[in-house]
Amino acid sequence: MTTADRMIAVSTNASTNPFGEAWPYARTPWPERSAPLYGQNFASDPFSYYESLRKTFGAVAPVTLEETGAFRGYLILDHAYQLEILQNRGHVWTRDSRWYRDFAEGALPPHPLVPQFAYRRSRLNAEGMEHARLSGPGNKALAELDLLRTRILIEDLAEQLITSFFPEGGPAEWNQVDILDQYALQLPLLVMMRLMGMDEGSALATGNAIHEMLSGGPGAHRAAAELDSRMRALVEEKQRDPGPDLVSWMHHYNRDLQLGLDTHELSEDVWLQIVAGRGASTTWICNTVLELLTNPDLNSDVIAGRCQMEEAMNRVMWVNAPIQNLIGRWATQDTMLGGYHVNCGDMAIICLGATGADPTMLSASFDVSRTNRSHLAWGAGSHGCPAPDLGTLIVRTGLEVLWNRLPGMRMAVAKESLTWDLPYVARSPTALPVIFPLPPMPVTNGQQWTAQHSFISNPPRPISTEPKERPSEPQGRLPLWRSLVAWWPKR
Ligand code: HEM
Repeated sequence: MTTADRMIAVSTNASTNPFGEAWPYARTPWPERSAPLYGQNFASDPFSYYESLRKTFGAVAPVTLEETGAFRGYLILDHAYQLEILQNRGHVWTRDSRWYRDFAEGALPPHPLVPQFAYRRSRLNAEGMEHARLSGPGNKALAELDLLRTRILIEDLAEQLITSFFPEGGPAEWNQVDILDQYALQLPLLVMMRLMGMDEGSALATGNAIHEMLSGGPGAHRAAAELDSRMRALVEEKQRDPGPDLVSWMHHYNRDLQLGLDTHELSEDVWLQIVAGRGASTTWICNTVLELLTNPDLNSDVIAGRCQMEEAMNRVMWVNAPIQNLIGRWATQDTMLGGYHVNCGDMAIICLGATGADPTMLSASFDVSRTNRSHLAWGAGSHGCPAPDLGTLIVRTGLEVLWNRLPGMRMAVAKESLTWDLPYVARSPTALPVIFPLPPMPVTNGQQWTAQHSFISNPPRPISTEPKERPSEPQGRLPLWRSLVAWWPKR
């Protein structure tokens, strides 16, 4: 769409901003020169691509996300500008997608990212007091987790996944698995579902529906609706019959702090935590495995204990951040950004993938690779990640169990031959095949899904609820959970 087309669309479209006011006159036309944020160069080597954008445009680059040029934003390449927007000290930027003018006016072409801008009554789209209200139960519940015991749960699930690497009859002399499909995609999701208190049948169905939704196939729409109703059912079940899990604690704090979240709002937050916890952790595991297997110095330092796994993970936050781009933030008023006049309703994309090469960071003469944690891979400001400790624990434990159980792991293919997903949001290879020799230690089976992992206590019972006798966990029965690990669908 040309600028003239846009003016016509603006003048004929009756959409309003979230205050119900007419959008202000768009004073500044979109910059003449912008760069594509799509295509093979971007997908195969985004880091060189970001560098070329930095050389051409400086700290802020106008980009288009598809061929028509109508889906566009300002890509923020430098740390200082990223922090300015994320912390939003000037009260200019919002995460409320109703401020995205092109979306509100229906000016965006079909694109896989566009449906994600639909407004949801969730902390993700909320600001100020409403953000604090919607985040309250989830954040308070997370603080109840006993992280030492949560580690035991994660170890246990990791062990079971590793056991499932081996065909019936035990390990062969050399074994090959796809770490993405058979480990990194599964572990964080299983952990999050277990922490939320899902039973094994529900976890099985939820895992299935998530895969179907993410496949983008014909069943994706139906799977998304099924997930909504599953989250709602979980929230309702935990209200009737609370137990030692995050959802029950969310109910407790919702009542105790009189926050007044309804079932829909609680379900949205449960869903958000599962999806956010799963996505970035998966990519972080995958990208750290890749970094270690292709950086022999770092790998030998980790194996010899000269470098902690967490330091290797931190390096990945700089050089191959799990979340590459935060799409997005929207301007709630006209503003200046990196020399550009930005109109109210324009989009900024925070390019976390570019931060590691930001010359102002590198020239600050400190080590940005292993120990420095000033990267923005957790976001920043009010929408920054509320669960960095849990996220780090899932990824570190997953990697440590893998390194402990399968020493001698190597890439099954050359790094250069890996193919990558388009790094609009997360960046991970489409598969990460590795090989490893016969493990020196026998592979253990781990516990079953329902095993007593006391990672959290029972919340206090609401006064009005009659204490119910809890059915005892079925003992000595593995079928569903075992099949959850063994059956997990291929992407
Ligand atoms: C393990 C690696 C993880 C990374 C790298 C990560 C990164 C991030 C980032 C960058 C954001 C900011 C998004 C934005 O500003 O637009 C975010 C938000 C969020 N993350 Fe994480 N995350 C991780 C794990 C988790 C886990 C385990 C949870 C589970 C509770 C979680 C829950 C959330 C939620 C609920 C938000 C939205 C916060 C808000 O909008 O107020 N994340 N995360």
